[in-house]
Amino acid sequence: MDASSYTACIDTSVTGAVSRALLDWYDGHARDLPWRAPPGLPAPDPYRVWLSEVMLQQTTVGAVKAYFAAFTARWPTVHDLAAAPDAEVMAAWAGLGYYARARNLVACARAVAANGGAFPDTEEGLRALPGLGAYTAAAVAAIAFGRRAVVVDANVERVVTRLFALETPLPGARPSIRELADTITPDDRAGDFAQAMMDLGATICTSRSPRCLLCPLSFACEGRATGEPQRFPVKAAKKAKPLRQGRAFWIERNFSGADQVWLVQRVGSGMLGGMRALPDDGWAARADGSGEEPLPGPWESAGIVAHVFTHFSLALQVAVYLGDRFAVLDEQPGEWWPLDRLDEAGLPTLFAKAAQLALAGKDHG
Ligand code: ADE
Repeated sequence: MDASSYTACIDTSVTGAVSRALLDWYDGHARDLPWRAPPGLPAPDPYRVWLSEVMLQQTTVGAVKAYFAAFTARWPTVHDLAAAPDAEVMAAWAGLGYYARARNLVACARAVAANGGAFPDTEEGLRALPGLGAYTAAAVAAIAFGRRAVVVDANVERVVTRLFALETPLPGARPSIRELADTITPDDRAGDFAQAMMDLGATICTSRSPRCLLCPLSFACEGRATGEPQRFPVKAAKKAKPLRQGRAFWIERNFSGADQVWLVQRVGSGMLGGMRALPDDGWAARADGSGEEPLPGPWESAGIVAHVFTHFSLALQVAVYLGDRFAVLDEQPGEWWPLDRLDEAGLPTLFAKAAQLALAGKDHG
């Protein structure tokens, strides 16, 4: 069924029963996560809620935990984060991906700190901060401030499309999903309800093998009634991602007995912008790079790193410099970085993989 015919005939006694059943389940099964308050208890510090929600976009709970611990230990308040140098925050974010989030994180912390350090407590106020989209504003309003807000992430999409057996495919179904989620969102315990939906999606209503026998919502679930709940959400056929090719350059020297590698800072607004990186041939700006090398050769290939971005896949050849004309680099922006401290450079995953390849080649002769 599609959403417009559904919302017209939704039975409010059922939607009320759904939200009550879910909150009862959450009281006994909430995941214990470092950015959360236990069910029914006062909301946590909005700074921690906001930070966790930004980190959790596009990233799993398991991967976020260590970053959340490191960030809150190093920058315990929004004022601390606002005062941190950009490069330090970017390096601490390395590995989490989607680096525009880290640039916005700093911009948002500074906007909040400049305003006295209190986050706005409404969805509209939050939405006006740098980097806060509809999802994050709704999540923070609900979880940190107890505001009734319709919070829809990928887990919630899965739960809702199954509950209502929504046949409309994603991504076109999003407005309908939001409408349907609205019908089951209670006025009270907004933060608990949002996180209960997320937990149900992550632990019971999972993508491939939903555990319907354990589900507190099975009594109302149309998807289960079809016998194929895993068919939802229906997805439009995916377009194949284009493949780009590029080269990254590994330039290593021994200087006063220490091994060093040449690193650059990527331009602020582009892909992986603001991050420390190996020099490359500009694959991010042009479909297949410019081919330009930071030094005249000789170069030798150490192999190819495959990496998948949101809109394209990349085959990045790692070229290792075999010459000794390092003085040419004196004219270029960049820095010699000690090889034994490479893990502190904050290289994004793509370049960390490229570095591994270059170093592995060295070990084998
Ligand atoms: N994913 C996004 N936000 C979350 C939260 N608050 N708890 C668990 N998973 C999440």
